[in-house]
Amino acid sequence: DGNDYMRLGKPNQVLTKRLPDALIIGVKKCGTRALLEFLRLHPDVRAAGSEVHFFDKYYHKGFEWYREKMPPTLEGQITMEKTPSYWVTRSAPRRVYSMNPSVKLLAVVRDPVTRSISDYTQSASKRPSLPRFEDLALVNSTVTWGGPWSVVDSSWPPVRLGIYARPLKRWLRRFPRSRILFISGERLVVDPAAEMARVQDFLGLKLVITDKHFYFNSTKGFPCLLKSESRSTPHCLGKNKGRNHPYIDPVVIERLREFYRPYNEKFYELSGINFGWP
Ligand code: A3P
Repeated sequence: DGNDYMRLGKPNQVLTKRLPDALIIGVKKCGTRALLEFLRLHPDVRAAGSEVHFFDKYYHKGFEWYREKMPPTLEGQITMEKTPSYWVTRSAPRRVYSMNPSVKLLAVVRDPVTRSISDYTQSASKRPSLPRFEDLALVNSTVTWGGPWSVVDSSWPPVRLGIYARPLKRWLRRFPRSRILFISGERLVVDPAAEMARVQDFLGLKLVITDKHFYFNSTKGFPCLLKSESRSTPHCLGKNKGRNHPYIDPVVIERLREFYRPYNEKFYELSGINFGWP
């Protein structure tokens, strides 16, 4: 026996750490934690608990380092991890491909306007002195005829990260579209069982995660879990998931909607799915 696996009671049941078969590559604030926690309900899925950041920060450490970060699995179990920053890391598609060209990729996406507010809310929770969302999302431009006129600041990360078409193009240069599953962050909230059925089908898993696993917690306003591998009592995701968002001036919301419209159209075309964002 080697030293990186252990024997279980049953013969031929060997626990080994393996490189991931599937990755949740993004998108930040679209429901990536919910997707991972829901997937972990499946007995044939094992996932690293925290974000590994291998393909963005720690690639120089090598694949053996990465493999060590993975949970031990039995043969036939799927190894996974989620790091949402992979989505926008320019070198990630090439690096992921070099690990395993047939890896399965999962990307959760959500209306980029709500995503930007969610992203801002997370930053504001750490920095209460942060200016208002409205003042960060729009900048004064004097270059526009008739200016000064406020325009959407496409370089502000909460805005920029909602342009899904650009990074998707980079992923599609390495991977066929059939290898990427797009999960609707909205549907993951309103009908988690249906969205998880698509995920299990894509990963070639037997349908285990169903509506029996979820209940809607009306206080939290989100689906929560009745039981999971580690806990037998009902529980929701942490307090930092499903935060209340501040009120945002509807004029600014409308400006953002107009800003995103062409990018959303491009994204629907590239992904082959019309998410129907307003
Ligand atoms: P908000 O906290 O702004 O509502 P990520 O895990 O990628 O950071 O995404 C966080 C978002 O996941 C949350 O953003 C929330 O809207 C969404 N989400 C989806 N399903 C959820 C669930 N069951 N519980 C809590 N948040 C959920």
